[in-house]
Amino acid sequence: MYKCLILFLILLTLGLNPSFALASAHSADVQALSSQVESLKQEVNRLSKAIESLMALRPTVTMLMPDISERFHVMHYAGHAQDWALASHELQVLKQLIGKMQYIDPEKGAMADGFLLGNFNQLEIAIEHENIEAFNASLEATVTSCNSCHVAVGSPSMKVVLNASDGLSLRHSHALEESKKPGDHMHTH
Ligand code: HEC
Repeated sequence: MYKCLILFLILLTLGLNPSFALASAHSADVQALSSQVESLKQEVNRLSKAIESLMALRPTVTMLMPDISERFHVMHYAGHAQDWALASHELQVLKQLIGKMQYIDPEKGAMADGFLLGNFNQLEIAIEHENIEAFNASLEATVTSCNSCHVAVGSPSMKVVLNASDGLSLRHSHALEESKKPGDHMHTH
């Protein structure tokens, strides 16, 4: 207590008003705080702009599909060449790609698991036993699952074909067949 008194007396002898000294110390704190708040605001702005760019660039389920398609067909032709080591590798990568879907779109990720995990198990067993008949049957079942999910998500025109050579590309192995364009007829003739 007497220390405060001494401080008070010293300040008085120095001709300073102690309450003024306290007030200016206080306002220095406020200034330091407000400049910290200001730089935090700038940081938050910078981060939200960065997040906005990343959100615009983020992978989508659609973007994963050509990779999925390519892995599927390389696995398919590797099996037919009895290159079981490669078929097994492609299946593992295919599983990883499907596994990533849950982080991009949890709902579609769960759908993809529901449609494909059983097929992947069948493929794994066929590859393990180097059994071409079981492998072929599992490939067909997988294509049916791919297309069932495409129907379920409202994109029935995304019709994957088993033989990529029937389509244009491994990455987009689609049935190139006559179909109606999607959506209502908006314009009048
Ligand atoms: C979640 C269910 C789901 C499953 C399972 C699925 N897909 Fe897809 N696929 C999608 C969606 C969603 C799209 C995008 C549809 C759109 O853009 O209209 C798509 C589109 C595609 C496309 C076209 C991509 C493009 O850029 O035009 C290909 C190729 C494709 N899928 C291949 C496959 C193959 C091969 C399999 C099976 C191994 C498969 N998909 C399984 C949901 C699925």
